Parts: sequence; C-alpha cells; structure tokens
Amino acid sequence: MASSTRPLAIVTGASSGIGYELAKCCANHGFDLLIAADEPAINEAAQDFRTCGAVVETVEADLAMPDGVNKLYAATKGRPVEALLANAGHGLGHAFLDQNFDDVRHVINTNITGTLYLIQKVGRDMRARGQGRILITGSVAGFMPGTFQAVYNGTKAFLNSFSWALRNEMQDTGVTVTCLMPGATETEFFERANMLDTKVGQAEKDDPADVAKAGFDAMMEGEGDVVTGWRNKLQTTVANVTPASMLAEQHRKKAEPGSCKQ
Ligand SMILES: NC(=O)c1ccc[n+]([C@@H]2O[C@H](COP(=O)([O-])OP(=O)(O)OC[C@H]3O[C@@H](n4cnc5c(N)ncnc54)[C@H](OP(=O)(O)O)[C@@H]3O)[C@@H](O)[C@H]2O)c1
Repeated sequence: MASSTRPLAIVTGASSGIGYELAKCCANHGFDLLIAADEPAINEAAQDFRTCGAVVETVEADLAMPDGVNKLYAATKGRPVEALLANAGHGLGHAFLDQNFDDVRHVINTNITGTLYLIQKVGRDMRARGQGRILITGSVAGFMPGTFQAVYNGTKAFLNSFSWALRNEMQDTGVTVTCLMPGATETEFFERANMLDTKVGQAEKDDPADVAKAGFDAMMEGEGDVVTGWRNKLQTTVANVTPASMLAEQHRKKAEPGSCKQ
C-alpha cells in the first residue's frame, strides 16, 4: 500500500451494511482503503470502491481473534493510517440462557476485544504522528438494557462509553475520536442475529447510506458523537431519564423472539 499519495482509511466490516457505506464515503472523499471482513464478500465490495478512484486492499480475517487483527494491521505495511473506522460488529438475539456461549463470546470478542486491540495499535501510531481520526460504531442500543439481546447491548454500552473516554485521553494529541450511534438500520444485522421474527427485526429501519454519511461527516468534523435520525435522538434523550427496569421492559417488546411472526 505504499505508492499512493492519498490518505489511507481502514474500515472494518466493509462488506455490507453501514461499513460498506462508510467505506464508500471514504473512497468518494479521496481516501485509499484497507478494508476487512470475515468472508470473501469483502473482495466484491472492494471492486465497487475502486470505481470511486480509491486504491483498495482487502483482508479476510475474523476480527474477534488477535491473529485476525494482527493480519489487518500488518497489511498497512507501515503506511500511515489517517482514519480508522472501527465498525465490524454483530448481534445475537434470544434469551441469554438459551444462547450458545461460543456465540456469546464471539459477540464480545468482535465488538469489544478485537475493536479495542485494533484501536490501540493504530491509535498509538496516530498519537506518534500527531494526527488521525477514529470513528467507532457504537449504537443507541448502548443506552438501554437489551432484553433478548442482552450481551450485544452491553457491548455497545461499553463502546459508547469507551469512545468518550478515549477521546478525552487523546484531546491534546491531534487525534480525534468520534462515536457513531445508529438506531435500527436496514442491513444484514437482524438476520445474522437471528432476530427476524421480532418487532424490531420486521420494523421499518434507517437507510445505511444516511447513517454512514452522518458518521463520516461527524468524524471529519472531529465531533464527539452522532446519534443518527430524530427518532433515535429522542429515544436516547428519553432513555437518559427513564428507569432501567422500564427500558428493559420496552426492549422485551421489540426483541422478544416470536413477537412478530414472519
Ligand atoms: N443495523 C443496525 O440496526 C445497527 C444499529 C446500530 C449499530 N449497528 C452496528 O453497525 C455495525 C455494522 O453492522 P451492520 O448493521 O452494517 O450489519 P452487517 O450488514 O451485518 O455488517 C457487519 C459487518 O461486520 C463484519 N463482521 C462482523 N463480525 C466480524 C468479525 N468477527 N470479523 C470480521 N468482520 C466481521 C461483517 O463481515 P462478515 O460478513 O464477513 O462477517 C460485515 O462486513 C456493527 O458494529 C453493528 O453493531 C448496527
């Protein structure tokens, strides 16, 4: 990745959904791309971004695993990373006691452990250079206990909080940290989380291109966070003053398996 003069952005989870649209925003705004996902579909996405003029390299790796993150980081070959969009993540529906613990661990290791490991590696280089932008995909899910998606919502609460703390730690370094907090968005997320028979799985959702644009713009402006869409802004404001027990009950109605038969 050494010969281009364009700045480089890493986008994780760029094969579909919000990450795909984030990568497209980067390509359209003059970035070259190093994109990663777990499946070969990442190579098809790369072709789309090349038509926007970007030099694109792909890495197929499970970012829940330290080796996967190491493989992605090694693919920079020492080229400075101007923007890191740490977006890869996935959910897991159904009651916690009914979930397979390997699946639970994979959610935590993708959404939290792998994300943090990558941010620490790339963030150290950015701090040494005195410049860089980090965008973390959190979620409005982090504002409420996620009945029937308990572990996922917990990981997003972690990321929402972590993002603000890291931003403050890095305030004098020239590196900005921004948290993108989408609401329910029309991607493969709910199918992968086995949540298509839930109310939220069947409900109308936000457009991933709109969500990504809001996140990309906030990152470029160096803002601390962005909640996309007025409904989600209202939801997070109300959540801040609502008892956790009520939020948990509200989430049950949205995410209970079978609450919306297909
Ligand atoms: N959709 C929503 O309603 C919503 C709302 C708020 C926040 N978010 C967050 O937005 C982010 C993107 O999700 P999405 O909605 O765009 O869903 P999506 O269409 O399923 O995209 C998820 C992306 O992450 C990648 N990924 C997942 N686990 C991975 C792993 N272990 N290693 C490498 N790549 C991995 C997937 O690649 P592979 O297919 O190759 O695994 C895919 O590219 C996630 O962090 C999610 O939590 C989504």
